[in-house]
Amino acid sequence: MKNAQIIGCGHYVPENVITNHDLEKMMDTSDEWIQERTGIIERRWITPGEETISGMGYKAAKMALEQANVDPSEVEFIVFASIVGDMGFPGGGCLMQEMLGIPGVPAMDIRNACSGFIYGLAVGDKFIKTGTYKTVLVIGSEIQSLGIDKSTRGRDISVIFADGAGAAVLRATDDPEKGVLTTHLHADGRYAKKLCCEWPSIHHTPAMNPVYEDPDHNFPHMEGRYVFKHAVVRFPEVIMEALNATGYSPKDLDLFIPHQANQRITEAVAARLEIPMEKVMSTIKYYGNTTAASIPMAMSMAVQEGKIKEGSLVCLAAFGAGFTWGSALIRF
Ligand code: UT7
Repeated sequence: MKNAQIIGCGHYVPENVITNHDLEKMMDTSDEWIQERTGIIERRWITPGEETISGMGYKAAKMALEQANVDPSEVEFIVFASIVGDMGFPGGGCLMQEMLGIPGVPAMDIRNACSGFIYGLAVGDKFIKTGTYKTVLVIGSEIQSLGIDKSTRGRDISVIFADGAGAAVLRATDDPEKGVLTTHLHADGRYAKKLCCEWPSIHHTPAMNPVYEDPDHNFPHMEGRYVFKHAVVRFPEVIMEALNATGYSPKDLDLFIPHQANQRITEAVAARLEIPMEKVMSTIKYYGNTTAASIPMAMSMAVQEGKIKEGSLVCLAAFGAGFTWGSALIRF
């Protein structure tokens, strides 16, 4: 059986920096509150009209392909994770495939929020393991800034979420010690409404509903403390699932890359598993929470900063809307 090796990583963030002080001008919040409760000092938001989800995904994918020294024509399968889309349908995967100029190559969209990249990685890995494809591109790309309530009413959400994209190129290897060693996925739809955006839905589209502007339904809603409490339990559980499946323990990890939800969640999880913070990749301070893009962005930055080297044992883990959660253990 083949293994899926990660041979290239890429990321892209919009140029437009939004600091906590910028947010103070839009809503009743403070730099102090945001830093203390989330660890964020600034994030990137697109300039409306200048970026698309598929376009940002393309830029991240291009970097990953260049790093892997892989021509787009070698890509056999695209998995594209994003909560929302540039269009109602089709999804961003097809739009990005057109930019890559590889018609006919299958493109699959995944809408599993913050866990989307790990779900995508698991799908890509399975197609490689079964020998179906040799080269798979997995992307997470998000534009949150256009869909959030930037008034005081939406401040719990809008200070966290941000825009960005990340990508990874998977390539089949015969080396059983290398690549994605294991993946673990979970969901629990009983908690769907704890973190969600109800509209637009097929039942409530702008065409169907005259009160489309209703902020209670049209903006994301999150019971922050509730999500937080589940996250700090599910993260360690699913990380241990990956480690137990492969016979490793937390101390064997060279790097832990969590979904960048909140610095306090990251620190709580690291403390619970006794992973020292120097072995934890954190990008939230400057990039906020970019949902499906946060893990591939952080992984690409870790490669760039030399924190991931040949042979590094890296654990990815995510928790988010759905609820969904998952982990992946990778030997680079
Ligand atoms: O991406 C994956 C899924 N998402 C997560 O994992 C996020 C999980 N949750 C969190 O990160 C945190 O719950 C938040 C950062 C969203 C909120 O932090 P918290 O410490 O749980 O605050 P809270 O919601 O309990 O609110 C505490 C207070 C409230 O005021 P009162 O009722 O104590 O007077 C809020 O109204 O802070 C207030 N508040 C704010 N104040 C200033 C909420 N948001 C803000 C804000 N600025 N942006």
